[in-house]
Amino acid sequence: MAGRIVGGFAAALLLVSCTQDAGDELPVQPVGDLHDTMTWVLDPAADVIWGSTGWIITAQGAQDLTPTTEEGWDKVRHSAWVVAESGNLLLMPHLLPESDAEAWVEFARGMTRVAQQALAAVDAQDSDALFETGGNLYNVCLACHQVYARGEE
Ligand code: HEC
Repeated sequence: MAGRIVGGFAAALLLVSCTQDAGDELPVQPVGDLHDTMTWVLDPAADVIWGSTGWIITAQGAQDLTPTTEEGWDKVRHSAWVVAESGNLLLMPHLLPESDAEAWVEFARGMTRVAQQALAAVDAQDSDALFETGGNLYNVCLACHQVYARGEE
């Protein structure tokens, strides 16, 4: 029993050293492609930010989307962190465009900076500032899509 566990551990170590021997420059473990990162990491987080500012008109009248509880603000904070760090994710080697990556890097870094402004707005519970950064965030998404994802909105 103990022998099997030790054996399994040794096999795991072997696997780790084999992976390192592969000569990867960075210890990154690609999980998904760009489509996955957009669809399952970035887009849902951006949606939470956009869904937490401004007003919507419902059958019951105008409804302010600004969070009203600490829990509600924490939800936006979480999403702003996801967007901020997603800018770094987009700079991982396997997600970088194969050529002409210069503007890509600018867009990704710009997105992180906008998300940091959103974080500041969340910390201040400033719904006007959050609304404004939400607009800036949309512009960064759009700008990168116009260059690198023709056909995506
Ligand atoms: C640095 C460039 C870049 C930035 C910034 C960026 N995107 Fe994308 N996005 C892309 C590219 C390239 C594609 C097309 C990828 C594909 O589907 O192969 C894409 C595709 C998408 C898709 C469609 C996924 C699919 O293929 O169905 C969604 C949704 C999306 N992005 C959301 C966003 C949102 C929301 C933001 C901003 C918060 C954003 N993106 C910012 C580059 C970017």
